[in-house]
Amino acid sequence: MKKQLITSYTTTSPEKTMELGIKIGKNFDKAIVAFSGDLGAGKTLLSRSICLGAGIDEDMISSPTFTLINQYTGGRVLVHHMDTYRLDSESFMDLGLEEILMGEGLKLIEWAERIEDFLPLETLFIEIKHIGEFERQLDFYSYLNHWAKPVQQLFAN
Ligand SMILES: Nc1ncnc2c1ncn2[C@@H]1O[C@H](COP(=O)(O)OP(=O)(O)OP(=O)(O)O)[C@@H](O)[C@H]1O
Ligand SMILES: [Mg+2]
Repeated sequence: MKKQLITSYTTTSPEKTMELGIKIGKNFDKAIVAFSGDLGAGKTLLSRSICLGAGIDEDMISSPTFTLINQYTGGRVLVHHMDTYRLDSESFMDLGLEEILMGEGLKLIEWAERIEDFLPLETLFIEIKHIGEFERQLDFYSYLNHWAKPVQQLFAN
């Protein structure tokens, strides 16, 4: 099965990217969102703003670069924040990430390309491309077309 492009959005500042992330955090519930993109693309910035939108206390949010996975409570929904940069498929299994992906809450995965084969069909993919100093192109992809409507709604007004 091949991922289909839902939409592309070019953001022109970190603030614009945050605005979008906050909207995602306010509106998406039991979703798996997978981010890919080069160093400094904005994966962490977007993940953090989704956490903020979900009502997670800013001080709670830290980078999962070394912990691999963080869980944030106290928001509108439970948020799992993963960074799979240091993961191979074996450790993915060992850490029980499969169970987390099937469970409750929002699941945000940075460097998702590392574990792409394990991601369920209902995953929403956001690929971030570095266009200029402050410009990033966000390409939204999914396997299933149930994502088309909620994604388009993010840009409706
Ligand atoms: N339009 C934009 N959207 C998002 N970030 C932007 C934008 N313009 C500039 N930036 C800057 O790009 C950087 C993105 O950093 P971030 O840590 O989120 O990247 P990353 O993809 O997580 O990188 P890494 O793989 O190294 O962890 C920030 O310093 C941010 O201020
Ligand atoms: Mg990062």
